[in-house]
Amino acid sequence: MISRNDPCWCGSQKKWKKCHFPKTTPDDFSSISKSYLKKYGIILKTPSQIEKIRKACKLAASICKTLCEAAKEGVTTKQIDQMSIDLHKKANAIPAPYHYGTPPFPGTVCTSVNDVICHGIPNDTPLKKGDIINIDVTSILDGYYGDTSKMVCVGLVSEEATRVVETSYICMMNAIERCKPGVLLSEIGDAIEEHAHKNNCSVVNQFVGHGVGVKFHEPPQVLFTKNNMKIPLVPGMTITIEPMINIGSQKGYIEEENGWVARTIDHKLSSQWEHTILITENGYEILTQV
Ligand code: MF3
Ligand code: CO
Ligand code: CO
Repeated sequence: MISRNDPCWCGSQKKWKKCHFPKTTPDDFSSISKSYLKKYGIILKTPSQIEKIRKACKLAASICKTLCEAAKEGVTTKQIDQMSIDLHKKANAIPAPYHYGTPPFPGTVCTSVNDVICHGIPNDTPLKKGDIINIDVTSILDGYYGDTSKMVCVGLVSEEATRVVETSYICMMNAIERCKPGVLLSEIGDAIEEHAHKNNCSVVNQFVGHGVGVKFHEPPQVLFTKNNMKIPLVPGMTITIEPMINIGSQKGYIEEENGWVARTIDHKLSSQWEHTILITENGYEILTQV
């Protein structure tokens, strides 16, 4: 009986296992999957995991849409948070932000108004005409995660507000549209910076996107400025694309009193949109679409 470590029967001088040893797996998904986990910590999802992540994403998207429709003049972000509590309960789901991290995040959604870059904490200040607000929903359904956010303009907003909201949306979509197997993770940052700078906006580099699905924040980090993440996208990756775009300086700071709320250093406007996407054989699928 010839063993795996014996010379191959073909005369190549290589070990049989490195040469003509029969493949035991139907395709190379499991071998790529093992190497991505080992090299980068990236969890490539199986079809049955994708099925469940897709459901979590659909739910997050539908809750996010409902909350955005409620974000009108006079409504407080606490009221929006209460709606999120109710909607998650009704769907038998868990809002992932609640008590996440250190210190534990106090809300069930992030509500980031005007100069807040991200991680805004729901509070009792009513929204007013001219505000722009990001509502960021992450839902856990059947143990799997979906993460998405949208912007809402309250009443008529300034020219700058319109520019930053529109620019950030197109930044996100341009980056998504580039995604397919073989494209490098770094190209996401290229696409985003290019469009932001063309529109006189800056890109935040203190916060990043992330792998998502089995956990809230998985590897890899997804950077939105020019970077060196030369990791090829492969089918089965689930990541977020969530660029934060500013009117003025790219720099932000975190409020000391709560350890979460990130504001622009110059208090100029910031805007963000977020989708969870799946890399497919041919390109991408936006999972957080209603
Ligand atoms: N949803 C945010 C993201 O896109 C993370 C919020 S962390 C929280 O990654 F604790 F503030 F919820
Ligand atoms: Co999010
Ligand atoms: Co996210």
